This record gives sequence, structure tokens and C-alpha cells, in this order.
Amino acid sequence: MTRGAPIFKLRNAADAKIYFLSFGSAFIHDSSFLHASNLHDELVHVRFHSKRSHLSISYMRILSGIQASGLLHIGNYFGMMRPAIALQAEGEAFYFIADYHALTTVRDPKALRENTRRVALDFLACGLDPERAALFRQSDVPQVTELAWILSTVAPMGLLERSHSYKDKLARGLAATVGLFNYPVLMAADILMYDSDLVPVGKDQKQHIEITRDLAVKVNDTFGEIFKLPEARIQAATEVVPGIDGQKMSKSYGNNIDIFGDEKETRKRVMSIVTDSTPVDAPKDPAKSIIFKLYSLVASKDEIAKMRDQFLKGGAGYGDFKKQLFDKLWEYFAAMRKRREEILSDKSYIDNVLARGAERANGVADQVMQRVRNAVGLR
Ligand code: ADP
Ligand code: TRP
Repeated sequence: MTRGAPIFKLRNAADAKIYFLSFGSAFIHDSSFLHASNLHDELVHVRFHSKRSHLSISYMRILSGIQASGLLHIGNYFGMMRPAIALQAEGEAFYFIADYHALTTVRDPKALRENTRRVALDFLACGLDPERAALFRQSDVPQVTELAWILSTVAPMGLLERSHSYKDKLARGLAATVGLFNYPVLMAADILMYDSDLVPVGKDQKQHIEITRDLAVKVNDTFGEIFKLPEARIQAATEVVPGIDGQKMSKSYGNNIDIFGDEKETRKRVMSIVTDSTPVDAPKDPAKSIIFKLYSLVASKDEIAKMRDQFLKGGAGYGDFKKQLFDKLWEYFAAMRKRREEILSDKSYIDNVLARGAERANGVADQVMQRVRNAVGLR
């Protein structure tokens, strides 16, 4: 497949779209002749550069990462994994397991290795398609640490000192290491390394993407146009999935319901969701209920409407609602549990996927790093 920044001698973006729809291919200007390449129109992002009055066609790059710091929970799934999986059909997706980032909190090498593989397994079981999206380990592209260093030389201390995530981590008792402080800079390197357009994440990562944009602008102002400015893609309905205590669900708050937890434990977690003391007979407010919020993620429209009525009418206790939630939740992930078992039965599947993903990611990273090293004077 031919990639890069092909030049289109068409008048505008609408022309190009018609072209794609009619031919299912793109004609790319090559110094000597025009040739066709098998670009699927769904994989192509068309931009019209009016200033230069030509079209530049490139893939929309989608990138996201998830830390290898523990088991994945339904907040990860609805906040980041499901949107990321949906986006894999709309561009060139790069998804990775952030093991360098996880080192800021995980001190057990065996656990880090196991978590990394388990995140890969769970992501694949949930529908990540390795034919479409590259799935890889962050540390298989060690150039990101070089890029993080370069970015750190322009990163203002004040910008990082304002990081909510850093302040939260200190408030939770983590030691103030340089790695923890520099966390957003490494994340910026992850994003800028792949010329990413879109970054699907939960709301807690929004500020990190703003920091990434600030750093990209700083580099561009200092050394010339090197980086694209990425955009966060945050789904309003699932931007903060509550945990069983009502706070944001998080691996580190102990309030999680895991995607692939065992049945008994998952039921126990659902049954221990915090509720108020409204009596069984009294009407209840669905908008204030964690049970109802979680049920809305996994049930159909009709089922949600029915539960809302039951809440408003009174006569049913929270225990009943919890049972309904558990049943739906268990059913929602049933096919993924099955897929997970299938993947597990193929011993080399995950290693092969990660190796192919790393190869694709390195291909892009090598090009971008060459551009960066040239621009700053390292080559
Ligand atoms: P955790 O907070 O459990 O350690 P991560 O920081 O590894 O999770 O998050 C991985 C991705 O999942 C990020 O994009 C993050 O925004 C998203 N995410 C995590 N928890 C939630 C949640 N409760 N609601 C929505 N998105 C979430
Ligand atoms: N900080 C992210 C999290 O905790 C993980 C991450 C690392 C990431 N690098 C990234 C997410 C780049 C998106 C893009 O969830």
C-alpha cells in the first residue's frame, strides 16, 4: 500500500471523495507518472489545503495507550477501549500497552510482564482487530524515550506542575519521582511519535492531551513545523464511568468491576455498589444511582426505560436492581469471554500480534525521529 503525502490535482475535497467512491482507489502523483494504489476510501482522510491549492491525502492516525498497571475494568472498556475499537475502522490505528508509564507505579517485574500480556489479551478479546490496528508494547519503540527527552528540554516546569494527575498521585501517597512528574512528557512523545490525529481516551486524560498540544506548539515555534496537533476524542456518555463507590472507576482506587473478573467476584462487586438509604417502597432517583448509570451502559433502550420506571415508581429495592445489573453485565461480556478463551488456547497468538504491531510502529517512529533529529540538530 502506498502511503505518504500524495498530491492530488483535483479542485477540492468533494471532488476527491467522488473519485474515491467511484474508483475505490487513489491516483497518486509520483515524479514520473500517476499510478493507482489500493487505498480503501474508508481508511483515507482527505484534507484540502486551500493555500497550496492541492489536495493532500493521508490516513487519519488514531492512537491510544493503556497502562499495564493492573486488570482492565469496565471504566477502561467504555471510556477508552470501546471507542478505540470502533475507530480502528476509520483510519490507521496504533494502540499500545504503556509499560514505561506503568513503571512509575509497578515495582514488581513479574507483575509488569504479566500485566502487559494480559492487557494485550483483554484488548484483543474485546474486539481489537490486529489486521486493522497495530497493537504493541510501548517499550518495543524505545525511541519514545529519546523523543520524551527532547520534549522535556522545551517543557516548562510550570506546565507540568499544574498536572492534575501528578497532584492526585502525590495526594494518594505516591513518592514524587522525576518519572511521575515527567509522565505527561512521555505521553506527549507517544502521541507525537506517530503523527497522531485523534486520541480516544477518558476524561481524566484530557489535560495530558492539552499538554501534548502545548509541547508540540513549542517545538514547532522553536524548530519549524515538525508536529501535527492531535485532538482528544472523549465520548460524553462514558467520559467518567463511576466505580462501586461512586468515584471514577480506577485500578488504583479499588472500586473497579473488571471486564474479565470471575463470576463470583463480579457479582460480589456489583452487590456492594454504594446506595443511599431510600426504603424499598419509596421512589428513587435514577440520575443519582450508580447502579442505573452502569446499567445504562450494558442494557438496551427498552430495558433502560423499564428500570427507570421501576426506580421512579418505587416498590423495588436496590438489591433487585443490582441483580438486574449483574445479569446484563455478565451477558454483555459473554462473547468476549469466549473469544478470550480462544486466544488463550493459541500459545503464540499474542506474541505474534505484538511483534507485528511493534514492526509497524517502529516503521513510523523511525521516520518521525529522523525528522525530529534533523530539525533539532542531532543529525
Ligand atoms: P486507571 O485509572 O484504572 O489506572 P488508566 O489510567 O490505565 O486506568 O486508563 C486507561 C484508559 O481508560 C484512559 O484512556 C482512561 O481515560 C480510561 N479510563 C480509565 N478509567 C476510566 C473511567 N472510570 N471512566 C472512563 N474512562 C476511564
Ligand atoms: N496515560 C494514559 C492512561 O493512564 C496511558 C497513555 C500513555 C496514553 N501514553 C498514552 C494514552 C498516549 C493515550 C495516548 O490511561
